[in-house]
Amino acid sequence: MRLAVVGSGYVGLVAGACFADLGHNVILVDNDQQKLTALKNAEVPIHEQFLTELLERHRGTRLSFSDDLQGAVRVSAAVFIAVGTPPTGTGDADLSYVESVAREISGAINGHGYKLVVEKSTVPVYTSDWVRRIILRNHADADAFDVASNPEFLREGTAVIDFLYPDRIVVGADSERAAAVLREIYAPLTDGSYYKRADAIPGPDRAVIPAPIIVTSTKSAELIKHASNAFLAMKISFINAVASICESVGASVQQVTQGIGTDSRIGPRFLNPGIGYGGSCFPKDLMAFRSVARECGYDFRLLDEVIRINEEQRHRFLRKVRSALWTLRGKRLAVLGLAFKGGTDDIRESPAILLIQSLLKEGSRIVAYDPAAMERAREIFGNSIDYAEGPYEAADQADALLLLTEWEEFANLDLLRLHGCLQYPIVIDGRNLYHPETMAEHGFTYYSVGRAPAVSEKLSAAANPSAGNRK
Ligand code: UGA
Repeated sequence: MRLAVVGSGYVGLVAGACFADLGHNVILVDNDQQKLTALKNAEVPIHEQFLTELLERHRGTRLSFSDDLQGAVRVSAAVFIAVGTPPTGTGDADLSYVESVAREISGAINGHGYKLVVEKSTVPVYTSDWVRRIILRNHADADAFDVASNPEFLREGTAVIDFLYPDRIVVGADSERAAAVLREIYAPLTDGSYYKRADAIPGPDRAVIPAPIIVTSTKSAELIKHASNAFLAMKISFINAVASICESVGASVQQVTQGIGTDSRIGPRFLNPGIGYGGSCFPKDLMAFRSVARECGYDFRLLDEVIRINEEQRHRFLRKVRSALWTLRGKRLAVLGLAFKGGTDDIRESPAILLIQSLLKEGSRIVAYDPAAMERAREIFGNSIDYAEGPYEAADQADALLLLTEWEEFANLDLLRLHGCLQYPIVIDGRNLYHPETMAEHGFTYYSVGRAPAVSEKLSAAANPSAGNRK
């Protein structure tokens, strides 16, 4: 099928490349000339596994790039709107980009056969109604098009895999002809034929094959997206709150998580405590969902609390750093992790960045390292922090090491080497990447989230001289 995807940001670019891999002819439309030139020149603007491979596979054949939105709409059976919906000052989603795309689409509808306009960006409920109204207001024939909602559940870092091996595909359509178009587009995933191809991108072990498809009304689909993200964020804030109680009573959040996560109704995933969620989705979507609910007459206070716990989690971490180091002015702190999570170079709403800003205000000196997000961080911090070439360089002569992003590389450090680098063997782990006992055995004083601090045996003997005589 011929498809147009409008907006070559995260969702648009990944969706466009994956649609091409499913066998469709895709025109990726963007009005940013620089972005288009870069894409045409084989530059990949985001750090995403398999994306470069897919773009290489289809660039110039099944995947082309253009700034001519109406031209792309005219030749396409379906048009996916994947432009940004950034937050406004009040927390609502700014839908002006969606509106202007809808307005432009309307000029290319009449006389070119039936078209399905699909919202793919994360948008509040009622957006599809508005898109339809805008297109009609601008003189498109009501019979010539439908508007559907097809939300995306991609995670950064695993976006291609998430697209091709989804837990479910949600199709929000208010007519059978609209649903039929989306069913056909996703057929290679829902009939399983994609997975039989020798050149299929490999999937995760727990992939659901063939991919399930859920057909709902457009309003339900819009709500599914916001409710999913709100629920996941709630899970994180819930376990962060439980972690705080564990710290107060001396229990281990790891054991508690194991205990509750084995209940199949709860499940073990998304129960990792830390320094709070970040990124370009959860913070923005929770505020937008709260706002939508308010407009619909429902005061969604549960979401207020999810957001409050998330912010408090950073403050708690900061207090932990203070309690480990006493004063912070002039202290040299090695920071491992700048991205909002492992596997991405994205630092938007990254708790690591917010924490560094607080530490700088308190007068600490920061030496940071991240496997992917250094350049982006440089745009924010410039020369106000130092940048290291690797984890051990960052740790060199530091007063303490802070682990702020869950990169796999940081979970596999050579602890002997690390111990030798640090001025004081103090590790404050915001992502629970190590076992407290292992750290103590290696001579570290180790603080983590929701678990009692571990003090190296040498230090604990010094702190409690009689301890050594008990044996
Ligand atoms: C999130 C959702 O997981 C996707 O399903 C959704 O499609 C996407 O938003 C979106 O709306 O576009 P993403 O923002 O890539 O994806 O990141 P996540 O993997 O969900 O992580 C979000 C934050 O939560 C990160 O800061 C991460 O470190 C934190 N997190 C995650 C925890 O603190 N604990 C956990 O157990 C899991």
